[in-house]
Amino acid sequence: MNYEQFLELARYRRSVRKFKPDPIPDDYVTKILDAAHYAMSGANSQPWEFIVVKNPETRKKIFEVYRKQDLNRIYHIEQQRSARYRHPAFNVAPEEKDMAISMIASWGDAPVLIAVLADPRKQLGSVAASFADISVNLSSVCLASMCHLHMMIHLAAASLGLGSQRVDVIVQEPFRQILGYPEPVRLDTLVPVGYRAYELGPPHRLPLKKLVHYEKYDMAKYLKDEDFLKYLDAIHALGRPGYRVAIGESKG
Ligand SMILES: Cc1cc2nc3c(=O)[nH]c(=O)nc-3n(C[C@H](O)[C@H](O)[C@H](O)COP(=O)(O)O)c2cc1C
Repeated sequence: MNYEQFLELARYRRSVRKFKPDPIPDDYVTKILDAAHYAMSGANSQPWEFIVVKNPETRKKIFEVYRKQDLNRIYHIEQQRSARYRHPAFNVAPEEKDMAISMIASWGDAPVLIAVLADPRKQLGSVAASFADISVNLSSVCLASMCHLHMMIHLAAASLGLGSQRVDVIVQEPFRQILGYPEPVRLDTLVPVGYRAYELGPPHRLPLKKLVHYEKYDMAKYLKDEDFLKYLDAIHALGRPGYRVAIGESKG
């Protein structure tokens, strides 16, 4: 693979929030996880495990728990910020709560759901974990390791022409009951995978030249505190189309 091909893959990978119900070949999931498990991790601790869920009833239960419990909490947390600065999917009138939830959770048709698990004990492979209360939290090294894994999952899915989404969860117990993973193993993230149900344009990013400094920090590029709210406006504007796609208002 050359740089142009890699760049094309990096730009093709998007957060896909709506899927066709069509099944994907069985070996695609194995291929995704095989590539992903070569991700780097602190002290090679490899804190991850996976549950591949294809059973439609189980997927439905998980989707409903996410919509009803997880997103309900996030909705109420977001209401504590003024509307302008809420997460782009939650910047709606109170009577549009269901629409906000649909913008974030419309992956129910994805034919495969990968539950990505983390075992906090495995982070003890890295001494940096001793700075975290690992009975409750994942250390920053462990979280970073999980993030490296995720990028590999999404790139591998994109390389197979598939879409995927990262779905972060807050509640644990309902998912634990459905999926049966024991303590202290935790659900890190849900990853729906399937064929994309809509067209995506190019990814929305801030211009690279604003982010790169050469030889020394260029203070002309420093984000001043008084400009921070403008920055929030800018990133929310970039992210908004990706969420509105679920309600048919944009291409993503
Ligand atoms: C740590 C992290 C958490 C995220 N959580 C969610 C999520 O819970 N739901 C979601 O729809 N997208 C989530 N995203 C996706 C981002 O919104 C998305 O990556 C960003 O808007 C850029 O769009 P793109 O992935 O299409 O390029 C998350 C991404 C990261 C890296």
